[in-house]
Amino acid sequence: MALKITVIGTGYLGATHAAAMAELGFEVLGLDVVPEKIEMLRRGEVPMYEPGLEELLRRHVAGIEGSTGRLRFTTDWAEVGAFGDVHFVCVNTPQKHGEYACDMSYVDSAIASLAPHLTGPALVVGKSTVPVGSADRLARELAALAPAGEGVELAWNPEFLREGFAVQDTLHPDRIVVGVRSDRAEKLLREVYATPVGEGSPFVVTDFPTAELVKTAANSFLATKISFINAMAEVCEAAGGDVAKLAEAIGYDERIGRKFLRAGIGFGGGCLPKDIRAFMARAGELGADQALTFLREIDSINMRRRGQMVAMARDALGDGSFLGKRVAVLGATFKPDSDDVRDSPALNVAGQIHLQGGQVTVYDPKGMDNARKLFPTLGYAGSAIEAVRGADVVLHLTEWAEFRDLDPAELGEAVERRVLLDGRNALDPAVWRAAGWTYRAMGRPSA
Ligand code: UDX
Repeated sequence: MALKITVIGTGYLGATHAAAMAELGFEVLGLDVVPEKIEMLRRGEVPMYEPGLEELLRRHVAGIEGSTGRLRFTTDWAEVGAFGDVHFVCVNTPQKHGEYACDMSYVDSAIASLAPHLTGPALVVGKSTVPVGSADRLARELAALAPAGEGVELAWNPEFLREGFAVQDTLHPDRIVVGVRSDRAEKLLREVYATPVGEGSPFVVTDFPTAELVKTAANSFLATKISFINAMAEVCEAAGGDVAKLAEAIGYDERIGRKFLRAGIGFGGGCLPKDIRAFMARAGELGADQALTFLREIDSINMRRRGQMVAMARDALGDGSFLGKRVAVLGATFKPDSDDVRDSPALNVAGQIHLQGGQVTVYDPKGMDNARKLFPTLGYAGSAIEAVRGADVVLHLTEWAEFRDLDPAELGEAVERRVLLDGRNALDPAVWRAAGWTYRAMGRPSA
C-alpha cells in the first residue's frame, strides 16, 4: 500500500513539500497550528507568493473541483499521528531575538505535540534547518515520548529549495540528502523519493550530524560567494574597475562558476543571514568557533553593502543630504519572484534613507502588503511609474523582470532628475544612459 505522508508546518517549505508529495502520488495530510492558514489552504489558496505553487496545490487539495483529492489539511495532532507512516517536520527555525543562535522552539514543540500520538511504527523526518546535534537530541525525545517507543524513528533530510523556484526545486532537487540510523529509515525515504531519484537526483545517505551540516555548509558557501564578489566590488570601486566584468571573467573558470557572483546590496531573506549566524553560534558551543570566524567577515561585508548603497544615494543627490529629497525605491522583497521581505536589503536601505530625512516611495510587484506591515512609515506607490514621479534619485534594489522591462524614456518624463542607482547590477547601463540617465551601479565605473 502506498505510504501516507504528513507535513507539519505549512510555510514556504511545508506548503510546497505537501503539494509536491501529493504530486508524487502520496496521500498527504498537512498540519499547521494557525487555523487561518489551514482554512486558506483548504480553499486552495497559498498564504504567500510562490510561482506555480497555487496551481500545484489546487491540483490536489480535496474538495476542489477536478483535484486528485490526495491533499488535506488539519490542525489536529491526533489526526496527524493516526494518519502518517512518514511525518515531515517543516517548521520555521528563525534567529533568536537579540542573539545569533537559532530558535528551536517551533521544532521542539512540533516533536512534543506529535510524539504522544505515535502509537504505531512511524518515521519522523526533520527538514527544518537546525544546529548540528539537534537530530540526536530530538531522536531521544521522540523515543521517550512516543507510545510506540522504538517503533518510532527519526531521520534528517535537509531542504535546499530556493524561494521563487520552490516547486521546481522540490520536484526536481539537485540532490536528496538523508541522515539515517537504520536500513528501515533509508528504505522508507528511498520509497518517498523514488520518482526524483529515478529522474536522476543523487541520493546521499549519511549520519545525523553530516546531514544537518550539509545544509548549513551549503548556505555558508553561497553567502561566502556573494560576499566575496561584494568585497571585489569594494576594491573595484576604489580602483576604478568593473566588478560585473570581473565576475564574468572569473566565472568562466569552471572551478569558480558564474552563479552567485552578482555584486550589489547583498543577501537577505529568511535563510542565508540567520543560517550563517546560527552556524557561528553552534560552532562556538562546540568549541570550534575559530573554524568559522570567516563567517563573521562574510556577514559584515554583507551588512556594509546596505550602508554603502545609502551613501551612494546621498552622494548622487549632490549636496550630501536627503532632507527635502524624493527617493524612489524599486523593489522591497529580498529577491524577485517572492513576496518575502524578511531581512530585505531593499527595505533596509529604504528605511535608512527615510530615517535620514529622505521622502521615500517604494514600489514592489508582490511585496507591498508585507512591506507595509514591516515599514508602515515609508511611502508606497501602486506602480513603478508612480513611485518615480518627481524623484531626485531612483534606486533599483530588487531585480524583478518587470523593472528590466521599464521604458527609461517614459520614466525619464516622470522624474525630477534622471539619476538611477542599480543596487543589483541587473539593468542595462547602455539603455539607460542612451535615454539621458546618469546610471550608476555598485562596483562599476560611473560612465
Ligand atoms: C537560500 C538557498 O539558495 C537555498 O538553497 C536554501 O534552501 C535557502 O536559502 P533563498 O533564501 O530563497 O535560498 O535565496 P537565494 O536565491 O539563495 O538568494 C539569497 C539572497 O542572496 C537574495 O537576497 C539575493 O538577492 C542574494 N544574491 C544572490 C546576491 O546578492 N547575489 C547573487 O549572486 C545571488
